[in-house]
Amino acid sequence: MSKVIKVSEETHARLAKLAKWGETMDQVIQRLTTQSKGLEDVIAGQSSICFIDGKEGRLLYRGYDIRDLCKYSSYEETAYLLWYGRLPTEEELSNFSHQLASKRSLPREVVSMLLNMPRNVDAMDALRVLVAALGLFDDPLLSNEERASIIASRIGTIVAAIHRHKHGLQILEPDSTLSFASNFLYMLTGSVPSRENSRLMDTLLILHADHEFNASTFTARVIASTLSDVYSAITGAVGALKGPLHGGANEKVVEMTREIGSPENAEKYILSKLSSKQKVMGFGHRVYRTMDPRAEILKEMSSQFVTSDEEKRYFQILSIAEEVMRREKNLYPNVDLYSGLALNHLGVPSYLFTPFFAVGRAPGWLAHVLEQYSDNRIIRPRAEYTGPEFRQYVPIERRTAQVVGS
Ligand SMILES: CC(C)(COP(=O)(O)OP(=O)(O)OC[C@H]1O[C@@H](n2cnc3c(N)ncnc32)[C@H](O)[C@@H]1OP(=O)(O)O)[C@@H](O)C(=O)NCCC(=O)NCCS
Repeated sequence: MSKVIKVSEETHARLAKLAKWGETMDQVIQRLTTQSKGLEDVIAGQSSICFIDGKEGRLLYRGYDIRDLCKYSSYEETAYLLWYGRLPTEEELSNFSHQLASKRSLPREVVSMLLNMPRNVDAMDALRVLVAALGLFDDPLLSNEERASIIASRIGTIVAAIHRHKHGLQILEPDSTLSFASNFLYMLTGSVPSRENSRLMDTLLILHADHEFNASTFTARVIASTLSDVYSAITGAVGALKGPLHGGANEKVVEMTREIGSPENAEKYILSKLSSKQKVMGFGHRVYRTMDPRAEILKEMSSQFVTSDEEKRYFQILSIAEEVMRREKNLYPNVDLYSGLALNHLGVPSYLFTPFFAVGRAPGWLAHVLEQYSDNRIIRPRAEYTGPEFRQYVPIERRTAQVVGS
């Protein structure tokens, strides 16, 4: 029997935005209050940080369109916006950037931990351990906002150090005179990037900065809701991001493009993946029903920076994959389809794509953790029970052998 649920006018207006094509309001309410696998379309809490319009393909951070932020903003300004809810004045931005830059260096002990890891350690495993290790050197007198700037600043230093360690290169001290984007590339490659490359990195960071209740952000919020510490919340988020259905997809896109090899093979390859019911990485999204605006921005930008024959071939392969996926499955690219091309252009190796995603997403994770603390209630949903009815406990000597699972 369907439930009759009355909602306020304000809630009604909000729910109307979630209606699928042809759905009545009663059906929307029914759907949203019924158990849904993977929590699809379930409203799991309130947030004023990020808005996604999955039908129109729009993404807003604190009300500002991602396209405008990519055009005019910077990593530092976007982090300020996400944490404090408004754009900073010139003086506020300068103080904030200075404060972030002054916190980039890692504690000596954290660097030693990295140096004791095997060179072939998985980069996301190393990142998870080292983010957790930052918490060991926490000053209990700090505010959570101060902790947020420490984590956001140092996560970039950790990722660059993991890369340098893997290749037996000297781990570089951050340069506090450089912007976050330039310094990150400098710590990875050892050279200060060109203005164009620094701008491209800044844009990539802005594009990854937040995305509402995605799996890693939600993980961070669940951990914060127990009133556990910020380091634990971000460590959990890194663990969730590692999965190939979330942050691991960008690396898989590059593997796929290499396997395809040339534009001539692209259609056949995608069709064979689809006919064997395999997922094609970089496509589909839980929320977007059209092209992910981040993918659109990256695709547009790619046409400006793609110059070498290899990049042109890569771009063509992705464009063909896009056409085939739209035609065959009505599925559109997500942020991961074109981000690898841009990171590759900046000299970021593919095994660092997911760690890079963590660097970009850190301001968003931290904004959500701060928001959760500011109006907390422990996140503790219910499960729809599908196990056996009550049964009598049978002492072991009276049990007969059963097939496991029966
Ligand atoms: C993002 C993603 C996890 C969303 O998952 P979801 O909302 O649970 O959607 P589902 O996996 O249930 O997919 C719904 C349908 O679309 C198909 N589909 C979704 N994404 C697909 C993809 N990338 N390739 C092929 N088919 C796909 C599913 O097979 C399913 O088809 P079916 O109904 O015939 O079984 C999913 O699209 C995916 O795995 N994409 C590839 C990984 C990726 O790029 N992740 C980055 C996300 S930003």
